Amino acid sequence: MKRIIIIGASSGLGKELAQHHIRAGNIVGIGGRRENLLEEIRAINPKNVFIKKIDTRKPQAKDELISLIEEMGGMDVFVYCSGVGYINKKLDFEKEMQTVEVNVYGFTQLVNVAYHYFAKRGSGHIVGVASVAGERTLSRCPAYSATKRYNIMYLKAIRQLAEKNKYNIRVTTVMPGFIKTDMVKFHYPLMTNLDKGGKLLFKAIEKGKKKTFIPGYWGLISLFMYIIPSFIWKKII
Ligand SMILES: NC(=O)c1ccc[n+]([C@@H]2O[C@H](COP(=O)([O-])OP(=O)(O)OC[C@H]3O[C@@H](n4cnc5c(N)ncnc54)[C@H](OP(=O)(O)O)[C@@H]3O)[C@@H](O)[C@H]2O)c1
Repeated sequence: MKRIIIIGASSGLGKELAQHHIRAGNIVGIGGRRENLLEEIRAINPKNVFIKKIDTRKPQAKDELISLIEEMGGMDVFVYCSGVGYINKKLDFEKEMQTVEVNVYGFTQLVNVAYHYFAKRGSGHIVGVASVAGERTLSRCPAYSATKRYNIMYLKAIRQLAEKNKYNIRVTTVMPGFIKTDMVKFHYPLMTNLDKGGKLLFKAIEKGKKKTFIPGYWGLISLFMYIIPSFIWKKII
């Protein structure tokens, strides 16, 4: 039985992941702003599920995570699944900043807490949900693609840092393609339903790979994204 904390578990992929871990009999800590939705998940198994209302844009989110870890009697796996993204062709400043606050500021401060906690404890697993959108510039959603690039680079850097320091900290970067959640308003080609996306996410984290695509064929698509010459890419995106 492990103790896993998932931030951004009130809906979508984080909620699916939480439900898989509850069914597996693990101790699950879930965080997000919509406390009523977190309560509904806790009702599945109130003994094993701990909730914390956390807005990752706020500096106090760090202390809230620490207090959740204490309430659970420790943490073995930390997952940052919170994310915001908009199609923002008009470059609305508010939307860009909301994205930066959750995907960069919130992500950095909570991954930081998890890194120091695991370093002190001697071992642990950090999982960050990035996106295939971070593989190459997307002019329709500048902050989303740029912040997801940040997630990819940051997770890689802290993996290297942990290795250098000889800490037994595993770091997994999750790279979903299109999954049907509240965040994705349209139907895109190759879109995966949430049920399947959640199952794949659960299995991928269990395997503990460094980088994992959800579903796996997005790894191949990412490769093509890199190969396409810039003058063609600009026309597609
Ligand atoms: N769906 C896709 O196609 C896709 C593709 C690539 C990557 N992803 C990534 O997958 C992750 C999960 O997204 P999803 O698709 O499952 O969408 P979702 O259903 O909209 O879930 C987003 C989650 O982020 C949380 N969140 C947003 N703002 C927050 C804040 N200020 N503080 C704390 N939590 C916050 C939300 O909780 P509250 O609103 O309750 O705070 C919610 O639980 C995101 O990182 C997203 O970028 C999704």
